[in-house]
Amino acid sequence: MVQPHKLVIIGLGHVGSNVLVDAMKTDLFGEIVTIDKDKALAHGEALDHHQATGVHSMASISVRAGGYEECADADVIIVAAGPSMVAGAGDEKPDRAALAPHNAQVIREVMTGITAHTRDAVIIMITNPLDTMVYVAENEFDYPAGKIFGTGTMLDTARLRRIVADRACVSPLSIQGFMMGEHGLSAFPLLSHLTIAGMTPEEFGLDLDPDELASAVVDAAYEVFNSKAWTNAGIAQSAIAMARAVILDERIILPACTTLHGEYGLTDIALSVPTLIGAGGALKRFCPTLNDWEHVALRKTVTAIQQAMDTLHP
Ligand SMILES: NC(=O)c1ccc[n+]([C@@H]2O[C@H](COP(=O)([O-])OP(=O)(O)OC[C@H]3O[C@@H](n4cnc5c(N)ncnc54)[C@H](O)[C@@H]3O)[C@@H](O)[C@H]2O)c1
Repeated sequence: MVQPHKLVIIGLGHVGSNVLVDAMKTDLFGEIVTIDKDKALAHGEALDHHQATGVHSMASISVRAGGYEECADADVIIVAAGPSMVAGAGDEKPDRAALAPHNAQVIREVMTGITAHTRDAVIIMITNPLDTMVYVAENEFDYPAGKIFGTGTMLDTARLRRIVADRACVSPLSIQGFMMGEHGLSAFPLLSHLTIAGMTPEEFGLDLDPDELASAVVDAAYEVFNSKAWTNAGIAQSAIAMARAVILDERIILPACTTLHGEYGLTDIALSVPTLIGAGGALKRFCPTLNDWEHVALRKTVTAIQQAMDTLHP
């Protein structure tokens, strides 16, 4: 008998609970387990969704709360544990980097729990500051290469595609393009490689400026965050899209965050570059040729990530 795929979600706050909502509708998983330090929350979320499977339109998925032993036979583990920033007022932009010292401890606790039971599951990290958390989880726990990656600039890229699509009055499906670098204030658009149905923006008749586009993507995040005090719709979809790529071995290229090993001359840092995702996780990183503006942007984003990492070792 074919075993159903198993998903474990760790951290069932605003983000993790939305990951659960989306996971329930994919038909990818026969088993979903919730883990949170708030055990009542993990239980309540799981039970709520278990009861929802009584509705005719829902697949008969087994949803339950559990402990880290449930990771032993998990196919995918999505980690959204740890707090978010406190929203700012108006156009304030609180930096995710401030979360690093606290959330590094959360991630160490989570990874200790996971690695006590498995090194086979593919782990998709969401917790911020994302790049620093991926580095800690991957390197301090020596998790197998490629089996752990972060959602990275998936969400920033979704915002980029939406913004360009709206300006071009076309579907985001027609936009090929990536945000690279930090998931955060210094993420930058790879405008030299952005196409609209294979056409450059100039050929399409769209005037795009990289500085303005980078700001528009960052501002788009804070417009949501400062309005509702968290973001969860885009990131949940991003994590589930990556989980689907793993489960179905889609071999899709997405902007995932992993530790670099010499790409662009960089080591000892995790950030997002276009990455092949399939069964086994992050299978290959790509280094598109950068123009002068993008080289400067890469240096800035590396500095920003290193500053967040430095707060772990004051
Ligand atoms: N990568 C992205 O694109 C992206 C997007 C949005 C949010 N985030 C990040 O996702 C994280 C979660 O955001 P949120 O809005 O859901 O926060 P939240 O405060 O609503 O939820 C966090 C959850 O983590 C749980 N938790 C805390 N410590 C834990 C531990 N040691 N073990 C298990 N569970 C623990 C809490 O009980 C809570 O349920 C934050 O770090 C946020 O910044 C990332």
